[in-house]
Amino acid sequence: MQYFPQKLDPGGQSALLGELRRIMAQAPLYTPTMPRSGRPMSVRMTNCGPLGWVTDKERGYRYQATHPETGKPWPPMPQMLLDLWHDVGGYPFPPEACLVNYYAGPAKMGLHQDRDEEDFAAPVLSVSLGDIGVFRVGGRSRKDPTRKLELRSGDVVVLDGEDRLAFHGIDRILPGTSELLLEGGRFNLTLRRVSKPS
Ligand code: SIN
Ligand code: FE2
Repeated sequence: MQYFPQKLDPGGQSALLGELRRIMAQAPLYTPTMPRSGRPMSVRMTNCGPLGWVTDKERGYRYQATHPETGKPWPPMPQMLLDLWHDVGGYPFPPEACLVNYYAGPAKMGLHQDRDEEDFAAPVLSVSLGDIGVFRVGGRSRKDPTRKLELRSGDVVVLDGEDRLAFHGIDRILPGTSELLLEGGRFNLTLRRVSKPS
């Protein structure tokens, strides 16, 4: 795992937030539901790029080219995210999906692996905006010990190599720890390569 604290300076964070506002105007945040149980997740989500990660009761975790509620294609991935992937991703093909998670109030994300992609040779790159998220990361087995890292607005994490399939999650958000978002809370953007380059 590679950790780049404050990879985006305040100007870069505001610029990315502006891009995110444009994305959400076209592809609104929605509440995803868990496979089988249909339980709502506590985060709200949207995506940009050719593919987006979605989940629902009937069809479970998957990537698809359209927003599940509007039926429209996801908005394009902003150039600054493509540049960031190129800069720190260490992978010669572009990302295909950028999942946007919004954590408000008590939202969290349980320990999981990102394994719905075909190609684990590509990294997963995450960017945080807004309030601190208490990130927990372990090993490739759910039983492996975990450690905590407080992700601040502008921090970038790359899960690659041995850690590409590391279990990770967000224990909680620390409210009031950033002034970037008027509405408070935290956005996390994760860039993924989904298909094997041919
Ligand atoms: C995720 O694993 O999809 C999100 C991680 C984060 O919010 O930092
Ligand atoms: Fe994840």
